[in-house]
Amino acid sequence: MNSPLRIALAGLGTVGAGVVKLLDENRDLIARRSGRPIEIVAVSARDRSRDRGVDLGRFEWVDDTSSLAERDDVDVVVELIGGSDGPAVALVREAISRGKGVVTANKAMIAHHGLELAAAAEKAGTPLKYEAAVAGGIPIIKAIREGAAANRIDRVYGILNGTCNYILTEMEEKGAAFADVLGEAQRLGYAEADPTFDIDGIDAAHKLAILASLAFGSEIDFASVRTTGIRAVAATDIAHAAELGFRVRLVGVAEVVGDRIHQRVHPCLVPLANPLAKVTGSLNAVVAEGNFVGRLFFEGRGAGEGPTASAVVADLIDIARGEAGPAFAMPSHHLEPIGAGEAGDWRGRYYLRLSVADETGVLAELAAMLRDAGVSIDSLIQRGQADAGGVFIAIVSHETDESAVRNAIKAMRASSSVLGEPMLMHILDF
Ligand SMILES: NC(=O)c1ccc[n+]([C@@H]2O[C@H](COP(=O)([O-])OP(=O)(O)OC[C@H]3O[C@@H](n4cnc5c(N)ncnc54)[C@H](OP(=O)(O)O)[C@@H]3O)[C@@H](O)[C@H]2O)c1
Repeated sequence: MNSPLRIALAGLGTVGAGVVKLLDENRDLIARRSGRPIEIVAVSARDRSRDRGVDLGRFEWVDDTSSLAERDDVDVVVELIGGSDGPAVALVREAISRGKGVVTANKAMIAHHGLELAAAAEKAGTPLKYEAAVAGGIPIIKAIREGAAANRIDRVYGILNGTCNYILTEMEEKGAAFADVLGEAQRLGYAEADPTFDIDGIDAAHKLAILASLAFGSEIDFASVRTTGIRAVAATDIAHAAELGFRVRLVGVAEVVGDRIHQRVHPCLVPLANPLAKVTGSLNAVVAEGNFVGRLFFEGRGAGEGPTASAVVADLIDIARGEAGPAFAMPSHHLEPIGAGEAGDWRGRYYLRLSVADETGVLAELAAMLRDAGVSIDSLIQRGQADAGGVFIAIVSHETDESAVRNAIKAMRASSSVLGEPMLMHILDF
């Protein structure tokens, strides 16, 4: 057996402890697959006294996490701290500059600094790997970067946040309100105490920006992801969707349209026949469409100790085998700065839910507003009492420009017949 790959773990939370357990349990198999053992040399986190459910006494504990990058006995720094900036990125920059390999699960850091870090890693001739950063245990980075590397990919999309998918699925099954399901998810530990990054779509946007860069050969552009979370999804939307033949899912979509890239994370109505409609609970799924391979569909656990550790250790095995290559599937200077599509450019079908006064003539008024904006109605249902004393109306449009629907909404906001804020969702027709 060749000399071991020596690693340092920075961060010993859910993922870090999972990596220790996995390297212990599958030690021999991993050594045979890698051609050499993978050995933890040093570990670091904030609180040395915390019980992490694993025996850490075998490893050198380091209080100053940043010093892991300076050690001569470490080949790879595994960054499992988290956060787009701060100690995580400082550690990774330092490790790369000293020629160490880096493995990270940190999507926020890669979404914000991926291009800079990839360029630095190439310059230093050292690997930068982040399989666990997107869709946890699903090997989607490897699939796009290697398996589908020969294809032009013009669209990549999926369910990229397990917390949101869990909440939407629970709302669907129980007919419950968003706030109640979120509260229950927090009690059960399925949602963070501060769930903002998940439910406002930011976590999914980080992952989508990474996928888009990898799939399209474009410079990572997190700032251009138009992001809407699931806070405004009401139980009535889910009931309307079911009646109309859809399920509501938070979907991230990145696509090349002409010479522009559109990146959106938003709740969508997904037709029941679409495989994404069948992705339930906390599962994630990713679809990539290659011009020779066709549609690839991946489903699996997007988070949690085991699946995330599986992805981290897969990266370590690659490095142990000497398989490196550029982080974003091509040298970073080949990644193109492709511009973002304009908001309102997107064509498709739309779902619009309104709470309106229960009076004669209101439907005709709504129909006129839509007609004036150039939006034609495919179906319309009236269902249930709205809170403000009105009734709910759900409308599905024919294919139209997003800007047209937004113009219609502007007119609706100005009407005294429309109570409260209209809810708009895209319909996923691919
Ligand atoms: N959890 C998942 O399922 C999952 C899935 C995919 C990707 N990820 C990503 O993996 C990374 C780690 O996530 P996690 O869930 O394992 O987080 P976590 O449970 O909160 O663990 C974070 C670890 O980092 C340590 N840490 C925090 N600040 C530090 C600092 N300033 N210096 C040194 N150590 C510090 C913490 O130390 P103490 O323990 O001493 O407080 C803790 O051990 C994040 O980037 C996350 O986005 C997580």
